[in-house]
Amino acid sequence: MLPPDQTYQLLRNLTSPVVAVTSERDGKENGMISDGAIRASIVPTVPRLSVYVHKFNFSHDLIFDTGRFVLHLLHTKQFDLIHRLGFVSGRDRDKLADVPHRAGVLGAPVLDDCWAHFECRVANVMDTGSSTLFLGDVVEVGFGAGKQAQGDVMTAAHFRANMPAEWRKEYQAGLETAQRFAEERSRHIVPVVWRGLKP
Ligand SMILES: Cc1cc2nc3c(=O)[nH]c(=O)nc-3n(C[C@H](O)[C@H](O)[C@H](O)COP(=O)(O)O)c2cc1C
Repeated sequence: MLPPDQTYQLLRNLTSPVVAVTSERDGKENGMISDGAIRASIVPTVPRLSVYVHKFNFSHDLIFDTGRFVLHLLHTKQFDLIHRLGFVSGRDRDKLADVPHRAGVLGAPVLDDCWAHFECRVANVMDTGSSTLFLGDVVEVGFGAGKQAQGDVMTAAHFRANMPAEWRKEYQAGLETAQRFAEERSRHIVPVVWRGLKP
């Protein structure tokens, strides 16, 4: 086995593009950032995706309770949105207050500026101990206003290499806090039967 740090750097090759995940419960809207999203279907008529969300994130509870979320691919000019949604929790602030958005067909917020958005209804979940993998049935898709003008999809590697220098300390501190939380809980995986599925 390689040293843990080297293993982690290798695993970073498996991160996804940086995505914004929005949710809404009882009128409270929220958004977070993830680089743990993946296509989960090869069938064009059954579009699905999945995303890992840590249990300490406010978004986790909103998505788990409502069974719906919107996943947005971002473009390479959206560093500020990543800072706004991915560095602090929305538990006691409205992170979407100054971010133009509208309610999607499922009621969760769709951001005007993005590369593309996928509105999802949760079809199943998998517990990892520290996070939940949400499998989403895509019920609506669209391009964002910024797609044409703003270049490529924001990848995790591009974000890490190009984020403003003054954010690095904060980013690293957030990552280390998340890693400590995850380390404590990762081995306590519980079986979860998603609502509507038969065990
Ligand atoms: C580049 C980047 C990638 C991230 N990836 C994930 C991820 O895959 N899963 C996750 O749960 N949180 C991830 N986060 C952290 C959350 O976005 C962050 O904890 C956020 O503040 C959660 O907000 P909330 O508590 O309002 O839901 C990431 C943050 C950044 C900046």
